[in-house]
Amino acid sequence: KRSKVELIKENSNFLRFPLREELETEAPNINESAVQLIKFHGSYQQADRDVRSGKAYQFMLRTKQPAGIVTNQLYKVMDDLADEFGSGTLRLTTRQTFQLHGVLKHNLKTVMSTIIKNMGSTLGACGDVNRNVLAPAAPFKNRKDYLYAVEAADKLAALLAPQAGSYYDLWVDGEKVMSAEPPDVTQARNDNSHGTNFEGSPEPIYGTQFLPRKFKIAVTVPSDNSVDILTNDIGVVTIVNEADELQGYNIYVGGGMGRTHRIETSFPRLAEPLGYVSKDDLLHAVKAIVATQRDYGRRDDRRQARMKYLVHDWGIDKFRSVVESYYGKQFETFQTLPPWKFESYLGWHEQGDGKLFFGVHVDNGRIKGDAKKTLREIIESYQLSVRLTPNQNLILCDIRPSWKSRITKTLAQVGLLAPRHIDSLNLSSMACPALPLCPLAIAEAERGIPSILKRIRAMFDKVGLKEADSMVVRVTGCPNGCARPYMAELGLVGDGANSYQIWLGGTANQTRLAQTFMEKVKIQDFERVLEPLFYLWKARRTSEESFGDFTMRMGFDVLKSHIETYKGPRTGRSRILLDSDVHAALEKQADEKGLSVHKLASQVLLDYLNGSQDSDSD
Ligand code: HEM
Ligand code: SF4
Repeated sequence: KRSKVELIKENSNFLRFPLREELETEAPNINESAVQLIKFHGSYQQADRDVRSGKAYQFMLRTKQPAGIVTNQLYKVMDDLADEFGSGTLRLTTRQTFQLHGVLKHNLKTVMSTIIKNMGSTLGACGDVNRNVLAPAAPFKNRKDYLYAVEAADKLAALLAPQAGSYYDLWVDGEKVMSAEPPDVTQARNDNSHGTNFEGSPEPIYGTQFLPRKFKIAVTVPSDNSVDILTNDIGVVTIVNEADELQGYNIYVGGGMGRTHRIETSFPRLAEPLGYVSKDDLLHAVKAIVATQRDYGRRDDRRQARMKYLVHDWGIDKFRSVVESYYGKQFETFQTLPPWKFESYLGWHEQGDGKLFFGVHVDNGRIKGDAKKTLREIIESYQLSVRLTPNQNLILCDIRPSWKSRITKTLAQVGLLAPRHIDSLNLSSMACPALPLCPLAIAEAERGIPSILKRIRAMFDKVGLKEADSMVVRVTGCPNGCARPYMAELGLVGDGANSYQIWLGGTANQTRLAQTFMEKVKIQDFERVLEPLFYLWKARRTSEESFGDFTMRMGFDVLKSHIETYKGPRTGRSRILLDSDVHAALEKQADEKGLSVHKLASQVLLDYLNGSQDSDSD
């Protein structure tokens, strides 16, 4: 039996009815069917949960811009809209987009049409369609592979944008404010040689049902994992030859983060290699994958509807062969790639054309207050363009070297510091918006993370970890995992009021899933659980071993028993008594090796303990 949302989509005349009617009523909100439809237009209806009397309805708008590219003009427009019609802040998301909160229903049309007329868009930013397509945010002008990645992201976004026109009907009275799309995109969309299309439909790929669920694509270049490539439904990697000419693309499929507490059949999953396609085949191959998910993804249960479950249930080989029937070709062998590296692009970098770019760290992606005002002034007076990163940060582009010191100083005055002046824990952490606006939140995230990070740093200090020691911490208010906590070295996932699941074991380069370590840990108990782990990490890590790798190597049983027996960090030295013959033998050996008795004894004991520890955890 198809779920309720499926019927709403089907009966909506391509996302119009009853949204158009509901938008015209005097009420501050819209009905349930319209709530489902407005998501496809890039908006969520929300109610402020801190307001107890009645429902304080408002709308969140999410923009869509492939590769996070924001023109100078669009930035200024978004900044103005936040002040005039929103809550006065701009939120940067993990998909290189803006979120504008607090828009009232009667202002929606003004806000939407302003964005559209300034060549921005919100179409398909939410809903069961392809969402914003990610690509590395670094504006390198002399790296062809990066330019190919942006071009591919743009084309994939165009290919999979809804076509039936309701967006323009509703928000700009039918005016088509769009730049022309490349001819190969139109050709690929209309091509129906392998039964991918609804012939004659205004939505040739999506039809009346659209996709079973949200759909996410990221494009990158080998080794640059700034886009969390493996958490997407489709991950595309550009492959160039030695002369930097584009050859083709590696394609991964089946990643996704969302899960539901206590439902074992829901889980986060990493994408896996599907194959390689040559450069002219990318659009057709991606369309074939989308058609496969469209026709075989589950439509009865939205919690099982993401493509990752289809790939999981079928296995990659069956999945590939069904995709090939829509593609009309076979995939070639996935090409060998170098290891992935996380890139943040914070701080100053060369753009490759004589100009510079500066990656600004924005705490939790929230641009507000003086920082908002100053960013706006800099962007306006130097006429900079902007890129949004997949980690809720922002890059100022096209900066002349002679402006560098003035810009650095001005930003520093409002607390937007170069990365070396910011706690490394803050640089790599993320939190979702959660309370008070997210209807699904059961615990704090964005509002809670500043104090959580301070407490972690204090624990680090207490157990003797250094300032440079860091880890990837991510916090979400519920298991949907909007801030990708299942890839973190320490993930905190709200599972009750002031209580969290603890996930351990992700990596800094975002290539391994974390695992549930403990559940229902109260926020006031974090020290009891975490301090022993940090202490053990400091005492037992091999050189350079990250916290994520360490927790995986130790095994969760060892970590848990250590928490039980932990008595606080050891300070200074302690004495142990030895029998005199043991001491004499030790002294003799130490002499022979030219070591102190203390040093030799410590070494021998540590070797022994580490050795027995390893066999424990096997
Ligand atoms: C406040 C309103 C929001 C609501 C109601 C919301 C709702 C959801 C839901 C229901 C899911 C689970 C989807 C699934 O199971 O497949 C999800 C996942 C996700 N959301 Fe949100 N979200 C919100 C805000 C955000 C924001 C602000 C961001 C970015 C900063 C974000 C990024 C994500 C990501 C990355 C995922 C994981 C997607 C995946 O499975 O790959 N969300 N969200
Ligand atoms: S993770 Fe949960 S609480 Fe956080 S924004 Fe997403 S849906 Fe809301």
